[in-house]
Amino acid sequence: MHQRQAYRGGVLHFTGHPEQGSEAPYEYWPDGALLICDGKVEWVGPWHAAAEQIPDATPIKEYPHHLLIPGFVDTHIHYPQTQMIAAYGEQLLDWLQRYTFPVEMQFADPDHCASVARWFLDELLRNGTTTALVFCTVHPGSVDALFQEAWERRMRLIAGKVMMDRNAPEPLLDTPETGYAESQALIERWHGVDRLAYAVTPRFAPTSSLEQLAMAGKLLKQYPGLYLHTHLSENKDELAWVHELYPDAENYLAVYDQAGLLGSRSVFAHGIHLCDEEWQCLAATDSVLAHCPSSNLFLGSGLFNLEQARSAGVRVGMGTDVGAGTSFSMLRTLGDAYKVQQLQGESLNPFRALYMATLGGAKALSLDHLIGTFKPGYEADFTVLDLESTPLMQQRLTYCNDLAERLFVLQTLGDDRCIEATYVLGQCLFQK
Ligand code: GUN
Ligand code: ZN
Repeated sequence: MHQRQAYRGGVLHFTGHPEQGSEAPYEYWPDGALLICDGKVEWVGPWHAAAEQIPDATPIKEYPHHLLIPGFVDTHIHYPQTQMIAAYGEQLLDWLQRYTFPVEMQFADPDHCASVARWFLDELLRNGTTTALVFCTVHPGSVDALFQEAWERRMRLIAGKVMMDRNAPEPLLDTPETGYAESQALIERWHGVDRLAYAVTPRFAPTSSLEQLAMAGKLLKQYPGLYLHTHLSENKDELAWVHELYPDAENYLAVYDQAGLLGSRSVFAHGIHLCDEEWQCLAATDSVLAHCPSSNLFLGSGLFNLEQARSAGVRVGMGTDVGAGTSFSMLRTLGDAYKVQQLQGESLNPFRALYMATLGGAKALSLDHLIGTFKPGYEADFTVLDLESTPLMQQRLTYCNDLAERLFVLQTLGDDRCIEATYVLGQCLFQK
């Protein structure tokens, strides 16, 4: 017995990836229909053509003033940092010492892990985000808790245990051997279970010895389909420190490269202060960058060069990077991305922005054969947007002439208030 449900409302999704220099192709129906069968997309199109597609007796849910889009994909976020989002006054390295490490120590307690994990996933869904690549802490229990909660919600989620064997408080350190063994046990337990995947997660070069990074590389070789998730070239003091710690490395990325950490499932957060060799190396290895504009502005890290990423041919996903990022909302994050480009003399096109937060994010995570668009057979993770959720947006939208303008207003003024509902595999997991 199949479980079918039809939705009627505005529908917008991207159907492919941008060719060099052009925008991603999309489909938009102001009065559209989305038919879901057993958690997968069965059909999408204009409402006037839906009658032939929707079997009799299929329930229809109407969202007459809303826009249905694929769920947002957050390609870089820290679940343990939800307690210290909006921590005042420091840049990256002092911010880690003063705020981040003390909070991460609390994840030695499994009950604490479970309650934060629960809250965190509900907050993602409340913001319309259905897939994320997530940093946990050094404690294996932090990963168990997050995967357990994600598994119960059937979310498509990628996460991993932080590996960190130096330059952090003693209770947060593992060793090359324990970091390897604990990661391996978590991989065996969770990688490939339902919609979950594991990311080998060395925090960043300053907190791992070369020996530990090499162990991370060994795991990647051992298990197919694993991700690599770390930070790269975010802050100038961090760069100088990496140079001090790894004097023989040609540049920051080379530290990861010599450990065998680059590749098409390797996601590096930030990448702000990269040299030409690093851009070339990212492209040559098909590695991915997570662009985290609200974090970069908040910590005063610098401005991400999206144009260079485009010309180098490097895949880029959007990341909130909570808790250095200041919002769970991908809409807020796109608003900040626009401003970061403005400061560099570029204007981020609203279609490109929305592509990056949906299908582009799926592509960045090599999941664009499963999520990110409404092609039949794809997993039915989607978000229902209410563009008129505030008086200001309602008023402003009356002066919009086309979809591009409306999307730009959505990204500039919108936030969690615009999320009417969030669906995972066709199940409504959040309703405003
Ligand atoms: N670099 C190393 N660790 C972190 C972290 O927790 N947040 C950010 N933004 N950068 C980092
Ligand atoms: Zn981060």
